Amino acid sequence: MTDAKDQAIQEIKEVVKKRYAKRALDVMARPSAGKPDSSVEACCGTTYQAVDLVAIPGEAILASAGCGNPTALADLHPGEVVLDLGSGGGIDCFLASRAVGPKGRVLGIDMTPEMVELARSNARRIKATNVEFYLGHIEELPFDSNTMDVVISNCVVCLSPDKDAVFGEAFRVLRAGGRLHLSDMMLVGDLPDAVKRDPQKWAECVSGADQRETYVERLRAAGFQDVTIAQEQPYRQEPGLENLRSVHVIARKLD
Ligand SMILES: C[S@@+](CC[C@H](N)C(=O)[O-])C[C@H]1O[C@@H](n2cnc3c(N)ncnc32)[C@H](O)[C@@H]1O
Repeated sequence: MTDAKDQAIQEIKEVVKKRYAKRALDVMARPSAGKPDSSVEACCGTTYQAVDLVAIPGEAILASAGCGNPTALADLHPGEVVLDLGSGGGIDCFLASRAVGPKGRVLGIDMTPEMVELARSNARRIKATNVEFYLGHIEELPFDSNTMDVVISNCVVCLSPDKDAVFGEAFRVLRAGGRLHLSDMMLVGDLPDAVKRDPQKWAECVSGADQRETYVERLRAAGFQDVTIAQEQPYRQEPGLENLRSVHVIARKLD
């Protein structure tokens, strides 16, 4: 990689990290932090059913910053090993941990130390024994090849400045027959120039989104097959963002 490209990647990552560090710190600093979950009034939007969130730590719900509900579509089975790319406060890991049960295992990875700290504290709070959180980058996963049954992610790939590396790593760690379930953002047209240039808009999951064709092409180039966009809906009714979509993408690493 050239020095200029490497520097551009690092700059984007610092802006992203700063935004999500603040989100984690805000959640940890709120007056009722650590109190029983019933004290939490706010929720994360419309992507999760209230019934699913019973016994999920309030701090994980408050920190939640996803654009979908990947475990709802991932058809997880008891005993499976699941990796969540960009696990944030851990909400999707806790949902996955319930589905895979005590014989399964869920690993979350996130590059923001404050988010990893929050996720670990959430895991302790609910005494989760099958969930582990790692500090690291999704472009360079610290996991062995062919070890995961399912890779999930919720509104994170759009934040990566090196999506080919992310998909390459997801493919490497999945076992043959493994599946990829990504809730993410995509574009079906252009964004205004001012939005494209604004690093904060990248950190808000807007200007880092790939065009749909590019996204699918990258997944295929990484080796994935059966790439399917299972859900697609307009993200926000905001002037300039009409071409932004929240999507759920499924792909497979064939046997
Ligand atoms: C929009 S939040 C989503 C968090 C979580 N998936 C959820 O649904 O609540 C994005 C998260 O991805 C992490 N992240 C962004 N880029 C990353 C990268 N390249 N490697 C690892 N983590 C990353 C951020 O630190 C942040 O916690």
